[in-house]
Amino acid sequence: MNQPDHKIHKIAICTGGGDAPGLNAVIRAATLAALQRGWEIYGIRDGYNGLLLYEEYLDGGLLRLTRDGVRGITHLGGTILGTTNRSNPLRYPIQGEKGQLVEVDRSDELVRLFRLHGLDALIAVGGDGSMEIASALAQKGLWVVGVPKTIDNDLDGTDVTFGFDTAVSFATECLDRLHSTAASHRRVIVVEVMGRYAGWIAMESGVAGSADAILIPEIPYDIERVAEKVRERDRSGRSFSLVVVAEGACPRGGQRSVVSREAGRAERLGGIGEKVAAELQTLTGKETRLVVLGHLLRGGSPTSNDRLLAQRFGAAAVRAIAEGRRGVMVSLDPPLVRYVPLEQATSRMKTVPLDCDTILTARDLGICLGD
Ligand code: F6P
Repeated sequence: MNQPDHKIHKIAICTGGGDAPGLNAVIRAATLAALQRGWEIYGIRDGYNGLLLYEEYLDGGLLRLTRDGVRGITHLGGTILGTTNRSNPLRYPIQGEKGQLVEVDRSDELVRLFRLHGLDALIAVGGDGSMEIASALAQKGLWVVGVPKTIDNDLDGTDVTFGFDTAVSFATECLDRLHSTAASHRRVIVVEVMGRYAGWIAMESGVAGSADAILIPEIPYDIERVAEKVRERDRSGRSFSLVVVAEGACPRGGQRSVVSREAGRAERLGGIGEKVAAELQTLTGKETRLVVLGHLLRGGSPTSNDRLLAQRFGAAAVRAIAEGRRGVMVSLDPPLVRYVPLEQATSRMKTVPLDCDTILTARDLGICLGD
């Protein structure tokens, strides 16, 4: 940690990657905490595009944040700054000579732009990709403090990310609703949820919403095991089943379902729910329906847990700067908010441990995990 720096005048905040409920709560908390200290605070539009493509923005891509500007936004989903998962400055997509997309490193240019605008420090709010960028910018000398966000909860270095609780709560509510219709029609309903390569959303909502089978990337599944679970329920008079499938789940010895791979962005997952539903219908002979929750999990008002966590993180990020901490990410280590080096957050993905209590609970409840 450096000595507290009392020369801070102007800081910036940006939101990057997929949006998550709670982003606006972080922006508001960081803004109020910065203004409280007499600093100016600016929001960068659309990840880093506000700086990198400033000529495309009427306000030069930087939005001055004021008390009035952040009034009444804590409960709103989305981000007032905008976000993108296609503007990674380390692998920025541009059109190549033959019209194809190629990736270029624009991080040095970005660091220069920060200095040009007289920005003393940056609060980078985002998931694994954003923390990787934040870490690279910190290594180039920029004063960066990261704030972990993602509905996927796959960031290491923090007990939980904000956005996750809202996604799990919504998925659970959907499972509650699907129970009655599945039971009325004696159907199998497969529910595909986001989560990328980690099964946190599927696992937690599946247990909370009393699913009969939960398929997660951490446990390659055997579809016959799931079909047998459905048949077993039929035999015991429960003639409907709910199956939660994480988008990153894959069959034993098989592949993940990938929608697309493009330059400058992470691969898009999706489609596994359709495969599972079709196979279950064939194997069990039962009418099967598919519900893909997709981006619904990212929208809506943050739960009170996420609002609180997001505001604690936003305020802690400003405190970090005031205390002279740089190259760190704000992290929840219950009950405390602490700081961990940015590299720790990006060194490994946080997947669901196979021996964690939620998995043990699922097994004790007789939920099929496909293995
Ligand atoms: O990381 C958040 C997330 O919502 C993932 O769960 C999902 O795979 C991905 O983003 C979808 O991103 P996009 O905004 O490109 O559809």
